Amino acid sequence: MHLVIISGAARPKPKSNTAKIIGAFRSGFDEKGNTSEVWYLSDRRQWEGAAKAFSENENILVALPLYVENIPGILLEFLSDIPPKTDGKTTLSFLIQGGFPEASQSRCCEKYLETLPEKLGCRYGGTLIKGDMFGLGLLDEKNRKKLLAPFTGMGRYFSEKGYFEKTVSDKFAAPEFMPEKEIRKFERFGHTIQRLFMGIIAKKLGCKGKLDAKPYSNN
Ligand SMILES: Cc1cc2nc3c(=O)[nH]c(=O)nc-3n(C[C@H](O)[C@H](O)[C@H](O)COP(=O)(O)O)c2cc1C
Repeated sequence: MHLVIISGAARPKPKSNTAKIIGAFRSGFDEKGNTSEVWYLSDRRQWEGAAKAFSENENILVALPLYVENIPGILLEFLSDIPPKTDGKTTLSFLIQGGFPEASQSRCCEKYLETLPEKLGCRYGGTLIKGDMFGLGLLDEKNRKKLLAPFTGMGRYFSEKGYFEKTVSDKFAAPEFMPEKEIRKFERFGHTIQRLFMGIIAKKLGCKGKLDAKPYSNN
């Protein structure tokens, strides 16, 4: 099987968590002689090639980061200009990854994605969801590999099936909601630890000011 993967991430490839996840997914998918190609919408020079690949291929996977509980604007813009297919032979599947750990965050987006294949003249091939990916690009190599390993497994699975079964993707997406015990623990101790953690991340990303700075405040 040949798979066309389109990344709907707005961040350029070297900074994008979606790109890292696609890399892991591909390494599982390509293992047994399958082939794949990737198009990055963060680079507008690739849009024409991505649109051509969409129209000429029958297995398409759109991978995207969750943005405000739905799809990034550049992906919406790209898809709005794609002419619908007419032969009904294409399977269109999706991979959503987000920053918050609960899969429930992505369910609104999933509902929207479910409507797209029909509009584009394709069959729906399911949606793979995974949260807790915010820090992926900030991890050291060992921990990043650990976090990415399940995506390689899903690449292998997809190479055999050609779509995501709902039961399999729901299991992969867990937790749907954080357990109450975890939430209570976070409310008690988490804020302070998270503040510290966010400060370290901000520094790594080049932030020089305070995270709670209020430059436009009157008081
Ligand atoms: C503008 C914006 C909105 C986001 N909204 C959500 C959201 O609603 N839910 C969520 O779980 N993560 C959200 N995130 C986090 C990203 O989905 C997450 O960090 C992802 O791994 C980024 O992937 P990328 O590096 O490929 O862009 C948001 C990030 C940005 C920049």
